[in-house]
Amino acid sequence: MKIGILGAGTIGATLARKLAAAGHEVKVANSRGPETIKTEVLETGAKPVAAKDAVGDMDVVILSMPHTGFEKIRHLVSTLPEETVVIDTSNYFPQRDGVNPAIEAGDVESKWVQDFFGRPVVKAWNAIGTVPFAERGQPKGHPERAAIPIAGDRERDREVAMALVDETGFDGYDAGTLAESWRQQPGSPVYCTNLSYDRIGAALAAAEQERLPKRRDVSVAIFSERFGPGVNPDADTIIRISRALQM
Ligand SMILES: NC(=O)c1ccc[n+]([C@@H]2O[C@H](COP(=O)([O-])OP(=O)(O)OC[C@H]3O[C@@H](n4cnc5c(N)ncnc54)[C@H](OP(=O)(O)O)[C@@H]3O)[C@@H](O)[C@H]2O)c1
Repeated sequence: MKIGILGAGTIGATLARKLAAAGHEVKVANSRGPETIKTEVLETGAKPVAAKDAVGDMDVVILSMPHTGFEKIRHLVSTLPEETVVIDTSNYFPQRDGVNPAIEAGDVESKWVQDFFGRPVVKAWNAIGTVPFAERGQPKGHPERAAIPIAGDRERDREVAMALVDETGFDGYDAGTLAESWRQQPGSPVYCTNLSYDRIGAALAAAEQERLPKRRDVSVAIFSERFGPGVNPDADTIIRISRALQM
């Protein structure tokens, strides 16, 4: 497939590496220009391009940036053909993104994204920590393979996203419509906890919407106090702290 990735940060870089290694034709862009994308992102064959060239003539476009980057790419994404699958990896952190009144008032994050761009999006890879995503992928059937929830309103979008998640070393779990995708937002039992496929349904069902922002903020405070703002610790630490928050 032809895949464009907007964002070459911690998640976008791993996506570019893994999806190109899986044989896809991958183009990747950041906000500063193709010459600034690190060579290790391109080692498996992804091509660095300007943002406008990462969206044209693609089967799949992956948004892998904070909400703060969205305004600049709005025209590129909102005009994509209906059949293009747009995958949103984003999470909302007011500490990083500034306060979004609509989300604070209860909008489901990726529904807000969908409305912002005025076209369907499917949510995937948002609930895996950046380091576990880079390091903990396993082949299908491996006993330690973790699952990633996928939510979207169009069945085909979910199917495409699940197939791609599978190729990145994780089981895709069909988590239903975007309206239900609050169950995989930061602070939820599936967020960064690396659960196996057979445990993820119960964890999604156990999510309590009103507690998510509090748990998200506690986790930001813990990580930031222990490691410094914006620093990603090793995979075990991310998973252990995320699981402890759900006890
Ligand atoms: N970190 C995690 O554990 C994790 C896990 C799952 C999902 N997520 C979510 O996934 C998204 C990306 O996270 P991240 O950790 O990869 O972020 P990051 O490391 O800060 O990287 C963000 C990337 O987006 C690019 N970008 C920003 N605005 C852009 C624009 N207008 N056009 C093109 N590229 C643009 C940046 O380019 P420049 O550097 O050139 O500005 C950078 O390459 C976030 O919403 C995050 O919440 C994060």
